Amino acid sequence: MEKVTEPAPTAAVGEPVASGPANGSYLSVRDLHIHFQTDDGLVKSVDGISFDLERGRTLGIVGESGSGKSVTSLGIMGLHRTARARIKGEVWLDGEELVGASADRVRRLRGRKMAMIFQDPLSAMHPYYKVGAQIVEAYRVHHKVSRKVASERAMEMLDRVGIPEPRKRFHDYPHQFSGGMRQRAMIAMALVNNPELLIADEPTTALDVTVQAQILDLIRDLQKEFGSAVIMITHDLGVVAEVADDLLVMYAGRVVERGSAERVFTKPQHPYAWGLLGSMPRLDRERTDRLNPVKGSPPSLINVPSGCAFHPRCPYASLTGGSSESVVPELRETAPGHLAACHLAQAERNRIWTEEIEPKL
Ligand SMILES: Nc1ncnc2c1ncn2[C@@H]1O[C@H](COP(=O)(O)OP(=O)(O)OP(=O)(O)O)[C@@H](O)[C@H]1O
Ligand code: SF4
Ligand SMILES: [Mg+2]
Repeated sequence: MEKVTEPAPTAAVGEPVASGPANGSYLSVRDLHIHFQTDDGLVKSVDGISFDLERGRTLGIVGESGSGKSVTSLGIMGLHRTARARIKGEVWLDGEELVGASADRVRRLRGRKMAMIFQDPLSAMHPYYKVGAQIVEAYRVHHKVSRKVASERAMEMLDRVGIPEPRKRFHDYPHQFSGGMRQRAMIAMALVNNPELLIADEPTTALDVTVQAQILDLIRDLQKEFGSAVIMITHDLGVVAEVADDLLVMYAGRVVERGSAERVFTKPQHPYAWGLLGSMPRLDRERTDRLNPVKGSPPSLINVPSGCAFHPRCPYASLTGGSSESVVPELRETAPGHLAACHLAQAERNRIWTEEIEPKL
């Protein structure tokens, strides 16, 4: 496996990074960088992120398209071990460090210890093998049982994810499934071994509301029964609000805000999070005076803007005396356990929140 050879970023990103897993955490990610060498230059998809997750808890990861959510997830699963990927940092899973572990060791942990519901179901299912056979194989890698026992388990899982006539559909090839059914079959495959860490990357996007609720229930059951740690990545802030205990907001490959979901939803601290929450539909009332959604496009990850990567789009960049353009903001505590990476002075932030943001949320 290749390691980053270039020097670490000069300006600090994130809070001072302790090495090793946090006490009690099942998953500890430490200063993780995942860069890709491409013909156009080095893509800094993940640029120094850290977080911890305990068993039984759900971490929501939000951020617009291209912010590095999937690359982070695939990195934890050890699925970026290609010649073009430059990986640095630590991923501790149940006390074992994975970035420096052998590919074979990480492969053995996938399925049982950690499993992922992929954003693209086709990437997870082999086109030439029947759906049922693939789930049976995924189960038998970790359980010494007969094919018959494994087939029963696979059919039960297909049933639980809402595949109609599971005994019949068990024998179909992936292309015979609709997009939504393929997504459900992949979810069945990810859940078949009751993984201790489940990463669900947009697990419900192709599904209608009823099936979506069913899948979220299934993940909750897994968590309750086996104390699994769950990472839930979704564009749907309603889903995050419903399931997440903690929340991580990503922008341009970095964490810009982190805290309990309750805190981040009720008292977000970062201007980017204000924009994100402002775009969330409200069921309880009409928004009278809408907050502006975040204007502009996500930045290039090859030429990441200097200072705070959000500064070209941030309405408050001019209030920081030039720091926004020149200094990468560190993640700092704004309240116990609630961190944000923004140069705004706390008094200024509080004023903007009270006068401009909260009344419109
Ligand atoms: N193998 C790769 N080589 C080069 N660049 C990559 C690679 N994989 C991802 N990227 C780039 O890394 C960035 C982050 O991608 P990622 O898939 O993590 O975004 P995301 O937050 O999951 O977005 P979405 O919400 O659209 O799924 C993107 O700019 C993407 O083009
Ligand atoms: S650091 Fe500056 S540009 Fe970045 S979010 Fe804060 S105010 Fe906006
Ligand atoms: Mg993604």
